[in-house]
Amino acid sequence: MGKDITGSGDDPDHDAALHLVVQNSIMTDDVSPSEDVLIRRFETADAGDTWRVFHAAVHGTASRDYTPEQIQAWAPPTVDEAAWQRRRSASHTYLACLGGAVVGFSDFTDEGLLDMLFVHPDAGGRGVARALVTHVLHEAAAAGHHRLHVHASLTARPAFERFGFTVDVTRLAEIRGQKLRNFDMSIDLKQIDSGELGLA
Ligand SMILES: CC(C)(COP(=O)(O)OP(=O)(O)OC[C@H]1O[C@@H](n2cnc3c(N)ncnc32)[C@H](O)[C@@H]1OP(=O)(O)O)[C@@H](O)C(=O)NCCC(=O)NCCS
Repeated sequence: MGKDITGSGDDPDHDAALHLVVQNSIMTDDVSPSEDVLIRRFETADAGDTWRVFHAAVHGTASRDYTPEQIQAWAPPTVDEAAWQRRRSASHTYLACLGGAVVGFSDFTDEGLLDMLFVHPDAGGRGVARALVTHVLHEAAAAGHHRLHVHASLTARPAFERFGFTVDVTRLAEIRGQKLRNFDMSIDLKQIDSGELGLA
């Protein structure tokens, strides 16, 4: 896990049962930019929506910072939906919804890792990640964590810095034979109670 990039989806049985295919026609066209973001817990029925958000975010947003080969390795065109669902259920996973559509998700593990933060490009720049991370940080603190870690992509580093994370180490993560630059970042959750973070 240590050299992984956040949300690599890397999994030993990834290629074993490929049956969830790409459908990037997410339904956000009718979403007003001013609409409130609803945060709710992940349910098993959300596996397909979260994977499509992950795929669209990597190919649509992170592709400005990584080569096509790196993007393909990070988010291949298909995934084992059952394995994906198990991994989301194994973490404390939260969804962001706009206009009834799943537009983003994030999580934290029992080990204190924020493993996933993905927002559909159609819903980017509207505070969806901020709403998700604010929720995750409060939930992690309530669960007794003192510090939360993330393996942040080049794309996500500025957002994590805005949320108060700092870079601990710069590294190269290896995903399916490709090396991707990322950053081990962390945040002291005690800052939440003291009001030092710019979080709601
Ligand atoms: C990174 C990502 C989650 C941000 O989602 P988003 O909903 O567009 O982010 P928000 O609108 O909530 O913005 C969060 C903050 O980060 C800032 N920010 C985001 N991207 C930025 C950038 N490239 N440069 C500077 N600031 C940036 C925003 O200005 C905002 O700051 P503010 O709340 O203080 O005004 C999204 O772009 C994404 O899914 N990227 C691709 C996948 C990825 O790399 N995921 C992370 C894996 S580690």
